[in-house]
Amino acid sequence: MTNKQHWTVSSGTALRGEIDIPGDKSVSHRSVMLAALADGVSHIDGFLEGEDTRATAAIFSQMGVRIETPSASRRVVHGVGIDGLHAPTTSLDCGNAGTGMRLLTGLLAGQGFDTTLIGDESLSRRPMRRVVDPLSRMGARIESGSGGLPPLRIGGGRRLQGIDTTLQVASAQVKSALLLAGLYARGETVVREPHPTRDYTESMLRAFGVEIDYSPGIARLRGGQRLCATDITVPADFSSAAFFIVAATVVPGSELLLRAVGLNPRRTGLLVALRAMGADILEENRSAQGGEPVADLRVRHAALRGIEVPVDIVPDMIDEFPALLVAAACAQGATVVRGAGELRVKESDRLAAMAMGLRALGIEVEETPDGGTVHGGQLMGGTLDSHGDHRIAMAFAVAAQRATGAVSIDDVANVATSFPGFDSLAQRVGFGAFTRA
Ligand code: S3P
Repeated sequence: MTNKQHWTVSSGTALRGEIDIPGDKSVSHRSVMLAALADGVSHIDGFLEGEDTRATAAIFSQMGVRIETPSASRRVVHGVGIDGLHAPTTSLDCGNAGTGMRLLTGLLAGQGFDTTLIGDESLSRRPMRRVVDPLSRMGARIESGSGGLPPLRIGGGRRLQGIDTTLQVASAQVKSALLLAGLYARGETVVREPHPTRDYTESMLRAFGVEIDYSPGIARLRGGQRLCATDITVPADFSSAAFFIVAATVVPGSELLLRAVGLNPRRTGLLVALRAMGADILEENRSAQGGEPVADLRVRHAALRGIEVPVDIVPDMIDEFPALLVAAACAQGATVVRGAGELRVKESDRLAAMAMGLRALGIEVEETPDGGTVHGGQLMGGTLDSHGDHRIAMAFAVAAQRATGAVSIDDVANVATSFPGFDSLAQRVGFGAFTRA
């Protein structure tokens, strides 16, 4: 017996109704960071009340930023200006959040005081050299634990120098860390990516009045600029929506409307893959929220067929593979994934966790170093481990909707990092019961 939380999830009925998905995690992290560094008061609407994003807000409170919560999903941030943060008296705990830790590493490298970033068990196993190495080339002094893992000790009072660099991995977190450090650096910082990634840092910096040039795959900014407070509306998180998109697609008789979901083109590779598999997903009421494209998604059940996932869309759906692989298990034929080695260094090794979990439910899976093949078939009941990974836990709750028996998922507490209330929302639209233990 462990004292970790688990769910036993049963299959339910066809999924029906209209739902609102909580705020985007990537945008919520960035909104607090930039608002804290701005001159003036910023209002954030739609802030994700998840453990990850709350951890980021708490870190800025520890550094002297006043952050009010007038009501759930709203924050009022009293910015302290680019050089106004105070030295914290303890280590800064990023919880489960890779985005929090990596972006903060860049931001803190430019401060006048020392800081230490720590994280939970999962975050403490995630690679940090990808940010530490280029930041060190900018003049930062950062000590990591053995093997380049957290904790990170960031020395203050360094004079940073802008660099022109090409990233080894397509990573919005690394790009963003360098741009945030670039605000404190002399000269220009130029970040080139092997494949364009989500551009929230760039667009939000611009909204805060920073002059930044960017186009897909390249961003450049000059150091020494100030940020001017602004109001931010956070769109609904596409990565959280993904579980409901796949669930409504695979459960016969379903028709679900997801309201105003963020559709940043660097996030929506899952729609491309699912449509190629035969999914029926309509985009209605297209508009913009806080500069981001949003639309209502109407998802109807459809029979799926396996595909070879195009390698060039992998970075655009990097967080959606757990959901996609459940769709693949429900499809006719094989779905092949390549070029997705980054999945091994997410909140868990997602290729291994999904392969183990799907096999535990009777699905044939072959794993390769950077992907694998899922052979669609009949999901059965069984027991599996989420490895403390929120997205693995939610993906298997979706799988349970097509399984012949109940699915027990161990270690589900981390669902609260990105999607608090997932289980009650799921049951409201037709998922079967979630029994907690
Ligand atoms: C994120 C970038 C991605 C993604 C993560 C959020 C961000 O990580 O997987 O969930 O907010 O910048 P990488 O930069 O490691 O690809």
